[in-house]
Amino acid sequence: MNIRQQLNQHFSDALSSLDVSDSFSPNISVSKKSAFGQYQANGAMAVAKSKKQNPREFAQLWLDALQANTALMAMIEKLEIAGPGFINIHLSAQYLADVLKQNSQSERLGVEKVANPQTAVLDYSSPNLAKEMHVGHLRSTIIGDSLARSLSFLGHNVVRQNHVGDWGTQFGMLIAELEESLQDNENIKLKDLEAFYIQSKKHFDEDENFANKARDYVVKLQSGDAEILKLWQTFRNLSLAHSEEIYALLNVTLKNEDVRGESAYNDDLAPVVKALFDQNIASESEGAKVVFLHEMANKNGDPSVAIIQKKEGGYLYATSDLAALRYRNDVLKADRCLYFIDARQSLHMQQVFTIAKKANFVKEDISLEHHAFGTMLGKDGKPFKSRDGGTIKLASLLKESVVRATEIVREKNPDFSDELLNDVASKVGIGAIKYADLSKTRTNDYIFDWDNMLSFEGNTGPYMQYAYARICSIFAKANIDIDSFNNDITLNHEAEFALAFKTLQLSEVVEQVALEAYPHLLCNYLYDLASLFMTFYEACPILKEGVEEQDKLSRLQLSQSVAKTLKQGLELLGIDVMQKM
Ligand code: ARG
Repeated sequence: MNIRQQLNQHFSDALSSLDVSDSFSPNISVSKKSAFGQYQANGAMAVAKSKKQNPREFAQLWLDALQANTALMAMIEKLEIAGPGFINIHLSAQYLADVLKQNSQSERLGVEKVANPQTAVLDYSSPNLAKEMHVGHLRSTIIGDSLARSLSFLGHNVVRQNHVGDWGTQFGMLIAELEESLQDNENIKLKDLEAFYIQSKKHFDEDENFANKARDYVVKLQSGDAEILKLWQTFRNLSLAHSEEIYALLNVTLKNEDVRGESAYNDDLAPVVKALFDQNIASESEGAKVVFLHEMANKNGDPSVAIIQKKEGGYLYATSDLAALRYRNDVLKADRCLYFIDARQSLHMQQVFTIAKKANFVKEDISLEHHAFGTMLGKDGKPFKSRDGGTIKLASLLKESVVRATEIVREKNPDFSDELLNDVASKVGIGAIKYADLSKTRTNDYIFDWDNMLSFEGNTGPYMQYAYARICSIFAKANIDIDSFNNDITLNHEAEFALAFKTLQLSEVVEQVALEAYPHLLCNYLYDLASLFMTFYEACPILKEGVEEQDKLSRLQLSQSVAKTLKQGLELLGIDVMQKM
């Protein structure tokens, strides 16, 4: 158990000993100011109110019971009642030092796996294969991936689902075009999917024969014609290769086996529609099959309408999402389904969730979560576009970041070999883009700004990586191997205490991120940690002459714990660190 969980346990036990029903929580939170201790228990007021007792008096009874608990008191410097009945909890420096030392020697840094792992299905990235991935897919990919990392670090069973758009009428045109291109060049690589799409669209609009062939291919594709399916498969693989290249560049954990696109649900679309009719959830309206959702009515009382099958028979985006939910529930046995999709699809997701629950496509206590995010904006505050107004390709954006980082890293380290320079620059460049995104509150729009994100100061990727490298360089200077170092810690100075306490909060933060799917909480935590390290380093010299050997070793151990925590935290964000930069 982490410190907060232990406090919670002890404080709950003391409440039970006072015959307080366990519906009351000790309500433990981190204190805002160190003068109030590290945590405070705010539960006395609610209990006292229910007992019609004076809250400070009840807090005193609670405190007496707590003080009889030796296991708790071993963690504590002092407990005090404050204000209307808060209990301020001052942790013991010795206790913090011991736990920190112990944690830093363990591979998981003391972060325990959860007692009851859940199966979490994460739907992220999910580009449309007809076109190239663009910046809009960046957010989904990296936010989703950092959640996948955090949840699996905590021991949950994570199932990644890359719900790619690989089905629909535009594929008729694309594979007809591909067929012609293959006649010219058997080993075609679709270097530029965007251009390929435009080319085939032009062909479709200008050449009646081609258009007819494309329409014919759609029909054949949907009826499972082997030849056409093979062609579609070729197109799909060529397009997926693009995404995979980007995942590799981005250091994202999505694998080919995580791809389960819209096409996978083709056979379940008719059954989904039928099931909705059988349960009288869907009805016919102007020839189309629709679901009226009165529970999602607007202000005027008009129901929200979801179309599940067009008049001509075609199915829709919502229909595949319903089928996907059935699969995630029935086959993947999801306890939680997390969707990382643009906020503009909120209504769609809400409709899908509502229909799925209504039709019992999912178990009652499943948690269906749309973790929406805002738009990436240019400096002009408008959606991020290339100079000519087109969408910016993700691949070129990532490459540009690495080029820019190379300049910066070279300037700071003229002595780096080319190999080292390339390695560091790619970690800095990619890390900067990811961190800039992950550190913003997910639901907000944000402005993409090269200078900000590549700065070595402030809450940026390079700053975090630099903090790590700086600690490594202290060890290098002292000629001590950072990984195997192992020493006792003594927290004498206020800056040491504050740093140790922050370092120990990793597990609380990761838990919160896993619950709320807000990676910026982890970024804020790591930024605070790095900043506290800088403060500590100013106040408490390590290798300076005159520093007592005992202090030096203790401070080195504290620094090592910070370094390991930074590294682990950044890894959960999918960002690499390096020893030198
Ligand atoms: N392919 C969609 C798009 O690019 C995103 C799919 C998200 N996932 C889902 N299950 N609907 O807009």
